[in-house]
Amino acid sequence: MIKLALLGYPLGHSLSPALHACVLEQLQLEGKYEPVETPAGQLGAALQRLSRDGYRGCNVTIPHKQEIMALLDDIDPAAELIGAVNTVRIEGMRCSGFNTDGVGFMRALDANSVALSGANVILLGAGGGARSVAFSLARSTVNTIQIFNRHQERARQLALDVQKGTGFSGIEAFGWPPPKFVGSSTIVVNATPVGMWPESNRTPLSFDGSGASLCAVDLVYNPLRTRFLESAQAAGAATVDGLDMLIYQGIEALGIWLQRQIECDRTKLREFLIQELNHHAKA
Ligand SMILES: NC(=O)c1ccc[n+]([C@@H]2O[C@H](COP(=O)([O-])OP(=O)(O)OC[C@H]3O[C@@H](n4cnc5c(N)ncnc54)[C@H](OP(=O)(O)O)[C@@H]3O)[C@@H](O)[C@H]2O)c1
Repeated sequence: MIKLALLGYPLGHSLSPALHACVLEQLQLEGKYEPVETPAGQLGAALQRLSRDGYRGCNVTIPHKQEIMALLDDIDPAAELIGAVNTVRIEGMRCSGFNTDGVGFMRALDANSVALSGANVILLGAGGGARSVAFSLARSTVNTIQIFNRHQERARQLALDVQKGTGFSGIEAFGWPPPKFVGSSTIVVNATPVGMWPESNRTPLSFDGSGASLCAVDLVYNPLRTRFLESAQAAGAATVDGLDMLIYQGIEALGIWLQRQIECDRTKLREFLIQELNHHAKA
């Protein structure tokens, strides 16, 4: 029996338990992935309990992705650079931290045939998700990355960290709001929670001009079709929702826990998770 968990607070609408139940079933593995609501101050005790009870690992989500780092025995260099851990592997009492969001994001772009070569990227947000995205894109073949964030200082810090950590110099930081018109050959990534349920009528940016040769990527997956993506689609842009990133970061985490490459049926996982989302929407 493979025992896995999710530590965060609150966990009410997380799709990760459903995702992992489905992946374990696809792989015909006997296991459980248990959501453990972990309020501030209880993270250390929760992690100790998982180690003691023979858990193979856990995911860590809001608000513990930074706090967990001080509790680990070692941290993967990529997660160290990003400054956040979303996956912990437990071996005996030894806990190792990883971040699978960046890989999840890149695999989602690949699965949706998003062309990166020479692209100019507009990245909205500078929080944990945006940091994973920025580091991954900086190591790819994109031309430039422009970060827009409410607190401009946080965007500036991210740009500096990326330059220092990857040697990529085509990255700049700006304040909020993002520009009204975006040029061609551009990928616009929403890494803010703006537009997420229950504030689904909001968007961080409207696409007024022609969206041909534009691609809009939303990290938000609830709702699946956000205002941001609807607006991009109406302007003729290609769109990528947040569900593939969720799926791939989860598969990557399972690969870390089981220490082997995991292959899953993405289409079936999407179908299953969309049903779960619809179920949440009606509840
Ligand atoms: N699909 C996936 O697998 C996946 C993975 C990771 C994250 N996500 C999603 O990505 C989103 C961000 O997550 P996160 O972990 O990066 O959160 P986070 O660390 O809390 O960062 C949130 C970012 O959004 C900005 N922001 C928040 N409210 C805003 C508003 N009203 N207007 C403009 N900017 C605002 C913040 O700006 P300030 O710095 O100025 O506060 C910050 O840059 C969430 O919806 C999360 O569910 C999805």
